[in-house]
Amino acid sequence: MTPQQLEIDAPPALHDFPIVSAGARSNTGLPKFTPHRGVAATTFATSVDTPRTIRVALAGCGVVGGGLVRLLHESAPAIAARFGVRFDLVRVLVRDLNRERNLPLDSRLFTNDIEAFLAHDSDVIIEAVGGNEPARTIASAALRRGTKVITANKELVASHGDSLSALAREHGASLDFGAAVGGSAPVISTLRDLVGASTPLSVRGILNGTSNYVISLLERGASLDGALASARELGLAEADCARDLDGRDAAAKLAIIAWIAFGIRPADLHVRRTPLVPGLERLVRFATITGARLRLIAECTRLPGDRVTASVEPVIVHSESAFGRTVLEENRVEVDLGWRSPLSVSGPGAGGPPTAAALLGDLLRVSPPPNDRGPGATQFLSVADPREHRWLVGAHLDAVALQRTSTAVGVRSERCASDGPDAALITAPASWKSAQRLIAALDSVSAAPSVARYETCKEAEVLQ
Ligand SMILES: NC(=O)c1ccc[n+]([C@@H]2O[C@H](COP(=O)([O-])OP(=O)(O)OC[C@H]3O[C@@H](n4cnc5c(N)ncnc54)[C@H](OP(=O)(O)O)[C@@H]3O)[C@@H](O)[C@H]2O)c1
Repeated sequence: MTPQQLEIDAPPALHDFPIVSAGARSNTGLPKFTPHRGVAATTFATSVDTPRTIRVALAGCGVVGGGLVRLLHESAPAIAARFGVRFDLVRVLVRDLNRERNLPLDSRLFTNDIEAFLAHDSDVIIEAVGGNEPARTIASAALRRGTKVITANKELVASHGDSLSALAREHGASLDFGAAVGGSAPVISTLRDLVGASTPLSVRGILNGTSNYVISLLERGASLDGALASARELGLAEADCARDLDGRDAAAKLAIIAWIAFGIRPADLHVRRTPLVPGLERLVRFATITGARLRLIAECTRLPGDRVTASVEPVIVHSESAFGRTVLEENRVEVDLGWRSPLSVSGPGAGGPPTAAALLGDLLRVSPPPNDRGPGATQFLSVADPREHRWLVGAHLDAVALQRTSTAVGVRSERCASDGPDAALITAPASWKSAQRLIAALDSVSAAPSVARYETCKEAEVLQ
């Protein structure tokens, strides 16, 4: 190849691609792609004779949908050269037709009419609207007519993933949601690839990039308001980030993980969920004093008797552990398969470009593996956590009063320390019920308690 041949033209705008007519479906139920009528004006086209055209209808063109439009535009030549396909955006569903989007798209592609959007024939529908409705209506209608659906919507998959998956099976379609968990970290595909080979002993992770970003900034001395403002400025947090900070977002992702890894229906997973706020700043401060790190950890762990227990809660981890070193908006998931070390995946877990990259990965996957573990797989039961853990309990109280309260409710403490008007103690191993008893007692004297699981013994020695 001569140097001249390597020079390529700028990628054509997506709307410059010819929109192909409705393609017939193959008898496998998979879309039969129609070759496009013209060749994109790039020298890449000489190495790719007739890239298949895949018609994509995009529902939602905000942070994630807009990120995908940009990515498809920028990567069109590389995708054609490497995968022999090109994506035509045939329809884009939004709420506000007048919103300025600065995207390389013909405004005629946009609609705010869901019926009109669904009536347009496409090979793939990408759902990046968010929430349960109209996302569920869009996904169900598409699957019913055999169209592949790809979504970044963890709420939708956590609430209706199993029924949508059944619908996909029934109609020879597929439902893929790699972008819904872990952002750019390939959590779902990693777990799906393992299904059948081994069932994990546990899956643990930092699944919410927004809260991890906020915690990282608090560790560096920012205030909670300052950290949230910074997260919003960078597009890592929405105006209302309650679901990030109270663990609901991570719990929805954990429900998807438990479904793929253990076959537990998302709606059947019991999750012990402890919000980060109020009390986050104090927990971060105490973790830092002990030389450790506070992280919001989501985990599901296998117990004897084919049981699984799940939690999303603040956990104090060793600062040099993999989770301790996971900072800012990064996500990390560790899958314990009983090997010498866990299988781990990590990457930016929030923001348009990483999520768009995950959507593109799903788009390029021709036939995603099934979401269900299949007949004959072990049936796991979701149960409350019967184990004991150490807990760090902070309160607006002096150390002596805190210890006295703890002793009064029968919770033994191993360490206790003051920090200004607050104090914190680390309990001896105790059940969650015992920890709750202590929290209730502190609540009753308006001591504003906060609690985190204390996972590292080493740092306990530092807290004197
Ligand atoms: N942002 C992230 O970092 C991130 C990361 C991973 C996963 N996700 C998931 O990706 C999905 C999209 O998130 P996002 O951050 O891109 O949200 P977003 O910026 O709010 O975008 C939502 C899009 O959906 C459109 N929309 C909303 N309601 C609609 C309705 N009733 N009818 C038609 N269009 C409607 C909006 O239209 P307008 O533009 O006209 O308002 C907008 O284009 C969510 O499920 C989210 O959980 C997001």
